[in-house]
Amino acid sequence: MKALVLAGGLGSRLRPFSHSMPKQLIPIAGRPVLCHVVGSLRDMGVVDIGVVVGDRGDEIASVLGDGGPLGVRITYIRQDEPRGLAHCIVIAREFLGEDDFVMYLGDNMLTDGVQDIADAFRARRPAAQIVVHKVPDPREFGVAEVGEDGQVLALTEKPARPRSDLAVIGVYFFTASVHEAVAAIRPSARGELEITDALQWMVDRGADVRARIYSGFWKDTGRIEDVLECNRELLDRLAPSLCGEVDGESELEGSVAVGEGARVIRSRITGPVVIGPGAVVRDSVVGPHTAIGGDCVLDTAEVQDSILLDGAALRRVGGVRASVIGRDATVSSTVFARCGKLVVGDHSSVEVAA
Ligand code: DAU
Repeated sequence: MKALVLAGGLGSRLRPFSHSMPKQLIPIAGRPVLCHVVGSLRDMGVVDIGVVVGDRGDEIASVLGDGGPLGVRITYIRQDEPRGLAHCIVIAREFLGEDDFVMYLGDNMLTDGVQDIADAFRARRPAAQIVVHKVPDPREFGVAEVGEDGQVLALTEKPARPRSDLAVIGVYFFTASVHEAVAAIRPSARGELEITDALQWMVDRGADVRARIYSGFWKDTGRIEDVLECNRELLDRLAPSLCGEVDGESELEGSVAVGEGARVIRSRITGPVVIGPGAVVRDSVVGPHTAIGGDCVLDTAEVQDSILLDGAALRRVGGVRASVIGRDATVSSTVFARCGKLVVGDHSSVEVAA
């Protein structure tokens, strides 16, 4: 089985970060979402991976490379415009050939893995197998109506009045019969070739389209609050590790991972916390549920339940929580000041009044 990872698109709900980076590269618990996705595919035993990229393909390639260090083989497929999820299958035709494949949306996190669902597909080989998850409000997702035997009866994309509580989540399994469906459908009212339309086309022609319920933790990381929730969830599973230096005046409690070359000086860290390589944490109080990127600087800072991207700095600021601080962004004050919830884009500079 091959894989097709979708990492194009615009990511407009994740502004300001999606102005300066592809949303699939936002780090969660210290690793970009796409690295979690590739890890999950490798756990399914899939190593031949096509990655659909848009204008930001170079940045994605600089993180994933040829996949070698991640134990996979990556082929990049360029999409000129975000023309829909089914369009991604159209342009990947040559890469996919006649093979079965799993399509994985590059902004979706299924932290409990889908190996059992992949095994069910391999055993039965239906024309298509989608993954669904019960949600309280399915209006912003594809929604599936599923019979008692797991047969998909109907699908609708982002319906105003959903007919079930089963959201279609970002992992789809296909045999090569999907190629006829994606070639047959026309763009939707929003101008995209919808995967839900392709699946409905298959259902209408009597193809075996099945759904499997995933009941683990799932997030579409399209919004800041979802990114933070996912960060908390993954950090709760963090294994402690110490590759950097912690001085005798610092206290570490709970699960803390200190990256290579990182230094913790006169600080209190309450896990789960990841401190990225080369970061310096001095006279600060950090955690719980905080991921500090590589080369960050925290000097007389207090932060919890937050993500700091690589190179971010907090100086003389406290009360930082539920925040995401962009790459090389600085939040500082001349004398110690409290600030609360912050969303600060890459390369920004915020000076807080005391
Ligand atoms: O997250 C699950 C939902 O994902 C499903 O319930 C919906 O049925 C499905 O249409 C999709 O909805 P979204 O509106 O969340 O899709 P989004 O535009 O965020 O795209 C999902 C991923 O695919 C994302 O990593 C960007 C990428 N993409 C998207 C489009 C439209 C591409 O690579 N090319 C594209 O043309």
